[in-house]
This record gives sequence, C-alpha cells and structure tokens, in this order.
Amino acid sequence: FGEYPENTIIQRPIVVAHRGVPSLAPENTMAGYHLSYELGADLIETDIQQTKDGHIVIMHDATVDRTTDGTGAVADLTLEEIRELDAGSYFGEEFAGEKVPTFREFLEGFKDKDVVLLVELKATDIEEQVLQEIMEVGVEEKVVLQSFNIESVKKFREISPHISVGFLYSASVPGSPEQRIKDAEQMLNYATSIGARLNASYGSLSEESITYMRQRGLINMHWTFRDQEPFKNLLKSGLIGPITDYTQWLTDGPTYI
Ligand code: G3P
Ligand code: CA
Repeated sequence: FGEYPENTIIQRPIVVAHRGVPSLAPENTMAGYHLSYELGADLIETDIQQTKDGHIVIMHDATVDRTTDGTGAVADLTLEEIRELDAGSYFGEEFAGEKVPTFREFLEGFKDKDVVLLVELKATDIEEQVLQEIMEVGVEEKVVLQSFNIESVKKFREISPHISVGFLYSASVPGSPEQRIKDAEQMLNYATSIGARLNASYGSLSEESITYMRQRGLINMHWTFRDQEPFKNLLKSGLIGPITDYTQWLTDGPTYI
C-alpha cells in the first residue's frame, strides 16, 4: 500500500477471503479455503446452493460450467454427479482433483479453526436446511449468513435469532445513493452487517454510506477488493471488512490509516 505520512495511525481491517483466495487457488474449494486461512483471513466467504436431490453444496455460479470440467445447473445435478467433477483443473493442474465441497464438509473443516464463516445463500428456500446443518455441526457461533434477498435475510433472522445475518446491498442495482441508504435503513431490524459492491461508476461506496453504517453499529463489509487504489480511500473512511480475492495483500502487515 505504499508510503504513509509520518503521523499515520495504522490498523488492520477485518479481512474477508472472498470464495477462498481465488488469486492463488481455485475459488470455493477446500484447497482455497485452507490457503486463505493459512494466510490469515478473519472470515472465509462462500456461496451455497442446493442440488437436484436436496444437498447443500458450494458453488458461486448457477451452473458448474465455469469452475469445473462439467456442465449444467447445480439444481439439475445430483450430489453424486457434482462430486465427480474436477473443480481445480480450470485454475491449474496442481489443483486437479479438487472437489466441489459440500456445505457440511466446509463447516466441519473449519469447526475448530479460529476463523468466521461467511455463508452466502445463493438459492432460495434453503434457510431451514442450512440452519439444521449449522446446528448439527455445532458452529452456530462462528457463522454469519448473508444474502442479496431481503426475504431470505428476514426468514433467517426469524428462525435463528442467535445467528448473525448480513444483507448484501449492491451498488450495481439501479437507484440513487439515497435510495440505497433507504434500503439499508430497512435492513436495520434484520441484519447485523451490510455489504456493498464496489462499483466506481455508481460512486455508491461513499464516505457517507460508510459513516451511516458505522453510526448504526453495522459492520460494513464490501466487495470485491481486487485493486489496491480505490479501496485505500474507503479504508481511510472507515470500511471495516474488505471482501477480497487477495487475502495475502491485507493480512501481511498494516494496511490502512
Ligand atoms: O460477499 C459478497 C459477495 O460475495 C457477493 O457477490 O457475486 O461474489 O457472490 P458474489
Ligand atoms: Ca458470494
């Protein structure tokens, strides 16, 4: 992050490893999650969906096409079919054979590790099942759920008042910054954190919105930090949790003023 003035106060943000560490390892794989943990991530972010036969697995896209050697929608494939896929080779031969993780495998893999699990629901109507798996593995104290879907956030809050819930608030949706702040206002009764997409052309990650969240005690976590420059100012304004593809940039020493 370069040079700082002499009287700079340095703090380290809460580092959220977006889909593991996709700058160094295939996204949303156990290899990537473990690497991000070893690099010092405070939270590991992940995306969950449901298979045709009702299992919860980890995949960002609606289809398996981009990140595996298979094709088709997650919702049209069985767990067995999904587990046969190679989720590592697209990134590099050294990761060949990586599997699409199940949600349970992810929870169990980090149950005893000092890291928070940030779980994004990409499918609808899976809240109860997700809660059940979290309870069965016994990780309710170290999970934060998040969703773009307001109804999903509300539902989760209703069925599990003890688990932290975040609302994803995208700057790429149409609307003025004022409207987005209003949306965030609505969420205050439900969410304990709000994330907003970095999108310079919309200019929505303003100091105003960050101050707004801070004043209300919300943890503001923003994505996706893939570029050092634009985030420098946001970090100065009080951005708490950059969600990044580059965990290694942020955990290695002091990062913001
Ligand atoms: O954590 C928020 C972020 O992951 C949402 O965007 O598309 O990367 O799931 P996406
Ligand atoms: Ca996500």
